[in-house]
Amino acid sequence: MGGYVRAITEADLAAANHREYDRGVDPLLQLLVYGPVHGGWAFTNVGGHRVLDHLGARAALRSGSRVLELCCGLADTCRYLAIRYGCAVTGLELNHAQVEAARVRLAADRIGGPRVRVVEADALAWTPDRGYDAVLTVDALMMIHAVDRALAAAFAALRPGGVLVLGEVVPFTTKEFDLLRFLAERSGLALSRQQILDGVWGYDWFGDVRTVDVHIAQVRKKVADAVQISTVRGIGYRLDAKR
Ligand SMILES: C[S@@+](CC[C@H](N)C(=O)[O-])C[C@H]1O[C@@H](n2cnc3c(N)ncnc32)[C@H](O)[C@@H]1O
Repeated sequence: MGGYVRAITEADLAAANHREYDRGVDPLLQLLVYGPVHGGWAFTNVGGHRVLDHLGARAALRSGSRVLELCCGLADTCRYLAIRYGCAVTGLELNHAQVEAARVRLAADRIGGPRVRVVEADALAWTPDRGYDAVLTVDALMMIHAVDRALAAAFAALRPGGVLVLGEVVPFTTKEFDLLRFLAERSGLALSRQQILDGVWGYDWFGDVRTVDVHIAQVRKKVADAVQISTVRGIGYRLDAKR
């Protein structure tokens, strides 16, 4: 049986945008996710406020920081950051229904609301204001067909020394995921390449131990500085728990 993978086009993304976001607040997500999982916050990122706390800390947000979120949806991420860090946040959003629903939510929030403004615009066809301390995307770049242009606009919006923070889903292969889990379950322990091969690839796998090095390099790239995987000379690797 034959099969093929078709590239996702700009029109596909536009259609997906209308399908997913024209309703404003999705009642099913409200019922199953926003309420029970995120305590009422309309976060699309599955990690919810923990992810935002991490991103906010990485971006060194504080009272008075000027923050821009590209593709802000219902702007609850903007609102959360504004309340948590006391920063002023601009959210940029393409979908009109999302913008309207965001503004309703902001008007009902006397603490976060006044610190957030939502601009209705396409991140790809927008001349950014300048001088932001941090520009951030969360769960958004998969909706954009020209990511390079969006990132260029993001950089243009930053003040010198400002930070770009990408809170995006990173796809792992099964082996990469198994490897990361194997190391994480033994965090703090130096593991030899052979131990890792046996644990992740299985005892009946016969191949070069350098396979481990190749996969470690991939995993390191994907986790960036969120997880520290150290090389232990003469032994192999160790995942170091972060404080
Ligand atoms: C998954 S939601 C992310 C919501 C938000 N970042 C959060 O953390 O809850 C993706 C949003 O990106 C918006 N979007 C997609 N393409 C865009 C574009 N070119 N410019 C601005 N917003 C866009 C969609 O309309 C949608 O609201």
